[in-house]
Amino acid sequence: MRDHNHAADLDHRSHTAPPGDVPAARHGGVTDAQRSRPPMNDDLTSRPPAVALCLSRREAGLGAAVVAGLAPAAGAQAAQATPDATLRLVLRVNGRAVDTVVDPRTSLLDLLREQLHLTGAKKGCDHGQCGACTVHLDGRRVASCLTLAAKAQGRYVLTIEGLAPPDGALHPMQQAFIDHDALQCGYCTPGQVMAAVACVREGHATDAAQIREYMSGNICRCGAYTGIVAAIQDAATRMREG
Ligand code: FES
Ligand code: FES
Repeated sequence: MRDHNHAADLDHRSHTAPPGDVPAARHGGVTDAQRSRPPMNDDLTSRPPAVALCLSRREAGLGAAVVAGLAPAAGAQAAQATPDATLRLVLRVNGRAVDTVVDPRTSLLDLLREQLHLTGAKKGCDHGQCGACTVHLDGRRVASCLTLAAKAQGRYVLTIEGLAPPDGALHPMQQAFIDHDALQCGYCTPGQVMAAVACVREGHATDAAQIREYMSGNICRCGAYTGIVAAIQDAATRMREG
């Protein structure tokens, strides 16, 4: 799924350095200008690059959370860091207002599963590679294992639990998955369904080849792909009519 392809983004950036300029990544993230500076006592560049880049997961998580707090989505309120380094989050999940406190390193997936007990989104790889954790954030599909909970501040999260209308009927995509036998063990299914709904809404479900491409970030270890593609084609028609 293209939105999740961080590796591709990083690869792209590594090829955008000016001609003749050696990408900083090849020097462990240290630029020529930084390497020519006289070392200072606390200057990370005076240490071997491998050490300079060894931010702990906690340090990286805190940094990302701070960025997320300082630059929230338009209209969203900044996440508030409390003195003991927790964050107060106010968001909507499946139409319900949520006001909670999290560790800044908490992923959206862990917030949903561990704190809100919404276990539909699955933790498959926890590395953005399987799509089992797919949910919608302000209508766009995201890998919730790679999304900090802090980024959901003031925003709307939709999970598989909130997809069906309140009248008890299934969403057309859920019904189509049943009709086309598009699952075996079902572990990947919540993520597949959420990604499939987004795929149709994005206009990326015009034919089987396009569906396969735009659903490629969602892995099914049972290999139910034939049924999944058929279900999406069927549901796309129902969703356009509905
Ligand atoms: Fe998030 Fe695999 S658990 S992509
Ligand atoms: Fe088993 Fe997809 S139905 S992993």
